[in-house]
Amino acid sequence: MTAPPRAREPITVPVALGDRAYDIVIGRGVAATLGQTIGKMRAGARTVIVTDENVASHHLAAAEAALKQAGVASSRIVVVPGEGSKNIPTFERVCEEIIGARIERGDLAIALGGGVIGDLAGFAASCVRRGIDFVQVPTTLLAQVDSSVGGKTGINSRHGKNLIGAFHQPVLVLADTALLDTLPPREFRAGYAEVAKYGLLGDAGFFAWLEQNWRDMFAGGPAREHAIAVCCRAKAAIVARDERETGERALLNLGHTFGHALEAGCGFSQRLLHGEAVALGMVMAFDYSARKGLCSAADAARARAHLAAVGLPTHVREVPGGVPGVDALMDLIAQDKKVKRGALTFILVRGIGQAFIESNVDPADVRAFLTDAVA
Ligand SMILES: NC(=O)c1ccc[n+]([C@@H]2O[C@H](COP(=O)([O-])OP(=O)(O)OC[C@H]3O[C@@H](n4cnc5c(N)ncnc54)[C@H](O)[C@@H]3O)[C@@H](O)[C@H]2O)c1
Ligand SMILES: [Zn+2]
Repeated sequence: MTAPPRAREPITVPVALGDRAYDIVIGRGVAATLGQTIGKMRAGARTVIVTDENVASHHLAAAEAALKQAGVASSRIVVVPGEGSKNIPTFERVCEEIIGARIERGDLAIALGGGVIGDLAGFAASCVRRGIDFVQVPTTLLAQVDSSVGGKTGINSRHGKNLIGAFHQPVLVLADTALLDTLPPREFRAGYAEVAKYGLLGDAGFFAWLEQNWRDMFAGGPAREHAIAVCCRAKAAIVARDERETGERALLNLGHTFGHALEAGCGFSQRLLHGEAVALGMVMAFDYSARKGLCSAADAARARAHLAAVGLPTHVREVPGGVPGVDALMDLIAQDKKVKRGALTFILVRGIGQAFIESNVDPADVRAFLTDAVA
């Protein structure tokens, strides 16, 4: 892994998806170029910004000013913050307001926010007028390294998360790392679990670099842009090879089967944020792999030690109020992953940076493992 560049020039990561190719532009202050960039890309286009109240209070005025300065017309749709807005009533409202703002094909929706806004606005953009283009301006670390890249959009059903959605790629992603300065530290840390995930799943060099440089990244130094660019490159490469998750893209789910079960078991509440659940889930994937003799105990310990060093939970006893018992977790795991002929699919590891898809995991083994892990 090379050292981050000294000068803080924006980094462009291309996403190679043929006629749906787009750039991710990463840098401190790049959101100020929003108007110019859109003006160049789509002369005369109108825009509508979709955001939430928290993000609006910090960053909406600047985004609108950047558009206005470049002569780009804009209107705004502000929704209530949180996962609850990924529902049908809010989706309906966003669609109606996009249409009401006279946004037509050729115009642009702008998702200014975290993963909730990206998923909600992206899905609305995929449906309004059978699909309008949209720009992602991700404002959480999770959104900058994960949800804004790859084109998955959607909302939740009463039957489960993200069950109503579409693949709809953005035409541009502007990841302004300065926007993360206003993010609550706990949200930043949770997003960091997804950053570490890229090292743990496929890039041991990056993981070693993170062990040395995470403090600079948290503090907003140049390591931040570098780390985000490495993650975006990794996700872009995987998505370009497997856009619709028929194979390799599943590696991005490292830690997510155990993690989702824990998250669901905590009722998707503030007790356990998604990234915190992913940190726990990755530790469990390493421990499970070590127990099966696939990975060394030393690598499992190293993964845990780094996540603990940044302040992420690495043992279920750290979850306030505790987690559900083994039976409930097994039920949630079975719901999350289609059980094929009695076997489960998990992302397991042979070591740091060596994840693989194992579709023949015996539920009895997982149960035995969880019995010890939850004890
Ligand atoms: N589409 C995908 O590929 C994909 C991938 C991963 C996750 N997701 C989805 O992403 C969502 C989680 O995203 P998230 O963690 O970004 O949550 P989020 O969008 O709810 O943001 C977290 C909190 O931070 C606030 N916030 C956002 N940016 C801020 C800023 N710059 N300053 C201050 N506060 C700010 C928000 O208002 C919210 O309260 C989930 O719904 C998940 O399903 C989607
Ligand atoms: Zn995730």
